[in-house]
Amino acid sequence: MPKRPLEFVISAGPTREHIDPVRFLSNPSTGKMGFAVARAAAEAGFKTSLIAGPVSLSTPRNVERVNVVSACEMLEACKAKIASAKGGVVFISTAAVADFRPAVTANKKIKKGSAEEMTLRLVKNPDILKTLSAGKRDGLYKDLSLIGFAAETGSPAEEASRKCREKNLDFIVANDVSMPGSGFAVNTNRASIVFPDGTVEDLALMTKLQLARKIVALAIKGVK
Ligand code: C5P
Repeated sequence: MPKRPLEFVISAGPTREHIDPVRFLSNPSTGKMGFAVARAAAEAGFKTSLIAGPVSLSTPRNVERVNVVSACEMLEACKAKIASAKGGVVFISTAAVADFRPAVTANKKIKKGSAEEMTLRLVKNPDILKTLSAGKRDGLYKDLSLIGFAAETGSPAEEASRKCREKNLDFIVANDVSMPGSGFAVNTNRASIVFPDGTVEDLALMTKLQLARKIVALAIKGVK
C-alpha cells in the first residue's frame, strides 16, 4: 500500500464513443457511485481528483474535477493525474468504460441515405485499470493502489475475483446489478468486497455514500 502523503484519483460515469458529432455509443451509468467515493475521500481529508465522463451531477466539495468524454480521454486524464502526484495514489475505477469505440468517427453528421442497412465497425478500447496496472509493474508508477468495480449479473464474486487477479487489483467491489437496490441510477448498493486471494466480504444493502466511506477506509487501511 502507498506511503503517505496519499491522494485519491477516481474515475466515474460512462464514456461516450462518438460515431459522428451528434451520435455516440454509451451506457446508463449516472456517476453516482464514483461521485460518492470522491466525496468520501475528500471528507476524509485527502486530495481528491475525479475524472468524470458526461454526467449531470455537481462536483463534491474540495474535489478537483476533470471532465472527459471518451475512454481514450479518460485514460490520458487518469495517467496524467497519477504521474503528477507527489506521493502515493489510490486509484478507484468506478467508471463504466465503454469496451468498444467506432473505428472511425465521422467529423460531419452521417446522412441517412437510401440504404436499408448500415455497418458500424468497432475497435477495442484500452482497459484503463489494466494499463495502469502494467505501468505499475513496469515501475512507471511507484506507489499506486488499484481498486476496481465489477457490475455483474449472477455470481458477482467469482467473476470479480478473476478480474481482481487479471487486473492486479488490491481489491474489487462487486455488485449484482440485477438485484433490487443495486446498480445503475439508484442511491443504494449491495456489494461484496473481493480480495485477490479469493476472500469475500459481503456487505449489507446501504447507501452509495455509506459504501463509498467503507471503500475509502479499506483503501487507506490496506489490504486485509
Ligand atoms: O468492464 P469490467 O467488468 O472489466 O470492469 C471492471 C473494472 O475495470 C471496473 O473498475 C472498470 O472501471 C474498469 N475498466 C477500465 N477500463 C475499461 C473497462 C473497465 O478501467 N476499458
